[in-house]
Amino acid sequence: MTEWTSDSWRARPARHQPEYPDEAALSEATMELAAMPPLVTSWEIEALKQQLADAAAGRRFLLQGGDCAESFAECTSSVIINKLKILLQMSLVLVHGTHRRVIRVGRFAGQYAKPRSEPLETRDGQQLPSYYGDIVNRPAFDDRSRRPDPWRMLRGYERSALTLNFIRSLIDGGFADLHHPEYWELDFVEHSPRSAEFHGIVESIGESLRFMETLSGISVSDISRVDFYTSHEGLLLPYESALTRRVPRRDGWYNLSTHFPWIGMRTAGLDDAHVEFFRGIRNPIAIKIGPALAPKDIPDFVGRLVDTLHPDDEPGRLTFIHRYGAERIAEHLPSLIEAVRATGRTVLFVCDPMHGNTRKTDAGIKTRRFDDILKELESAIDIHASCQSTLGGVHFELTGENVTECTGGARGLTDDDLRDGYRSLVDPRLNYEQALEMAMLIARRLAPAKD
Ligand code: PEP
Ligand code: CO
Repeated sequence: MTEWTSDSWRARPARHQPEYPDEAALSEATMELAAMPPLVTSWEIEALKQQLADAAAGRRFLLQGGDCAESFAECTSSVIINKLKILLQMSLVLVHGTHRRVIRVGRFAGQYAKPRSEPLETRDGQQLPSYYGDIVNRPAFDDRSRRPDPWRMLRGYERSALTLNFIRSLIDGGFADLHHPEYWELDFVEHSPRSAEFHGIVESIGESLRFMETLSGISVSDISRVDFYTSHEGLLLPYESALTRRVPRRDGWYNLSTHFPWIGMRTAGLDDAHVEFFRGIRNPIAIKIGPALAPKDIPDFVGRLVDTLHPDDEPGRLTFIHRYGAERIAEHLPSLIEAVRATGRTVLFVCDPMHGNTRKTDAGIKTRRFDDILKELESAIDIHASCQSTLGGVHFELTGENVTECTGGARGLTDDDLRDGYRSLVDPRLNYEQALEMAMLIARRLAPAKD
């Protein structure tokens, strides 16, 4: 293998990158970015890596969630608070159900770049660059908005810093108050046949917390230092490499734009730029694996990928996020588990039940069914168990807002309801109620067996 440097990816084909028309501006913007302080620290990254190692060993469970793409305009107080709230509440439900500690990772503070199937979009005979996410260009279909602008990387960096700053303050300043059930919005529960069970879960979480407070004499918001980590798809390589640094008293290079970057399914080619870049960073990293890879090709691909990205079997280093879809998971997942076993190395398995279950309504709206998402998760739990493997986490696209982007859930949202509150510019997200219900439904499936 050739020597890795923070620029060695430049010699490889980099997929799904925007074409910046102004080279000089690109290099000026990345130089400015490279001089900025980091967004996260190497000790946080190392702490997360250890926790992910625990998840791979079945001692913890990873909850990763957030928008498909964050938008600059939604870097607001209420959107951030609501996202943190839903992730925290889901994590309490999962702790309660799984009896495992939960690692909370937000797809936020940097989830601004999107891969696009077509580099150009045509409307009424006019062709313009596709919208690659707010860190690259703007969604409006006109020449100026769609031109990739490297200075938007600075704007993305700043939004990430603002988001992180607020999250860190909320967590330090007693945001853990949300542990109390009176903050939970449970109106939707009445629409579910499991209403009593859901109320029971929330009651019992409240009781456990009160019990802990009584026992220790300290309020829950003081004792529970809640850790939150960040993740995003490390797609835009000029941005990621500008924030990749050496740090004092540690070996190697850290990508300090986020704790836990992942490689998307479309950019995971073995000889491509993303795998080359990720190979050399010390962060825990994840790769999305989907149905495009035929089961017969899984052993060879996985073997080579693990050799490249995970040669030393360092605990917590590598996560596979499988996203096959409810229909196809049974055909693919056993081969993936087997292929990983054959490498002799440990990988954390996480299920993304969103991206394999996207469909279009008759009106052409991109959506997902709550029941398909649940079904893929339940299959993932069962298949891992029957292959003597562990499902160590889940990866959702969700928001704490009351959007209507996915159908189903206790309120039974229909295709027609999608017109009312569809806000995502890219993939459909579970809303607050659907996300909480999903956590409750899978927590019971993940419960340790009673003997
Ligand atoms: C995503 O996570 O938003 C995404 C594009 O996923 P995938 O790479 O799995 O398609
Ligand atoms: Co998505």
